[in-house]
Amino acid sequence: MNRGKQLYEGKAKILYETDDPEVLLQYFKDDATAFNAQKRGTIVDKGVCNNRISAALFTYLEGKGVRTHFVKQVDDRSMLVKRVAIVPLEVTIRNITAGGMSRLLGIEEGIVLTPPVFEWHYKSDALGDPLINDDHILSQGWATAQELARIRSESFKVNDALKAFFNERKIDLVDFKLEFGRFKGTILLADEISPDTMRLWEHGTRTKLDKDRFRRDLGDVEAAYKEVLRRVLGEKSQAVGAAQ
Ligand code: CDP
Repeated sequence: MNRGKQLYEGKAKILYETDDPEVLLQYFKDDATAFNAQKRGTIVDKGVCNNRISAALFTYLEGKGVRTHFVKQVDDRSMLVKRVAIVPLEVTIRNITAGGMSRLLGIEEGIVLTPPVFEWHYKSDALGDPLINDDHILSQGWATAQELARIRSESFKVNDALKAFFNERKIDLVDFKLEFGRFKGTILLADEISPDTMRLWEHGTRTKLDKDRFRRDLGDVEAAYKEVLRRVLGEKSQAVGAAQ
């Protein structure tokens, strides 16, 4: 599959056309941003880690009955994905308080949430991805009631599956962000699932293994991404070259 015209460059990824009009190539960069791109930097080999972690997690989720845009991993930094129309919403599911929810409600980080908290955010860099509810979405026509129900149930399926997956790897899934797209009348899980988009704490020690190490200048950022990759791949990580 040849890499064609560049369609879009985001903060962490570039999308290219391919020979197949229904398939795009998603390329993962080492660029890192935080606080709505006010903080910028590079995390060496982040693109390699996030591509491989996302590929493994999309494959795992497909096995659990979640429909995703993932087609296949092409090389260290790229994967083929179905060409979807992104729904302009970001879903966050929180299992433990952290980040935005702690700030919003003045709650300390690290409190287990029962039941988990589901949030809609409007996908807008200019507005800082504001927290919204179903009525905002329906009144603006960003998605239909049927699509909201589908995205919500798929998101909880993802939460259950990923919580179990990371639990087996001695990692607590604190929270994560998902994006969905429309493809031939169906809704597919899209974008990426990586330490850029999830908070992951080592079970017991609560050592942060995600982008908070970059956001909060905690150091050992590269090592954290590589550790997540190692645990996600398990025994297959023996085959990991550059990212070891
Ligand atoms: O990151 P921040 O504290 O500002 O926001 P959050 O709402 O607490 O983030 C919840 C989860 O979604 C975290 O795992 C973030 O890494 C992720 N997130 C993301 O991937 N993209 C965004 N635009 C915002 C949050």
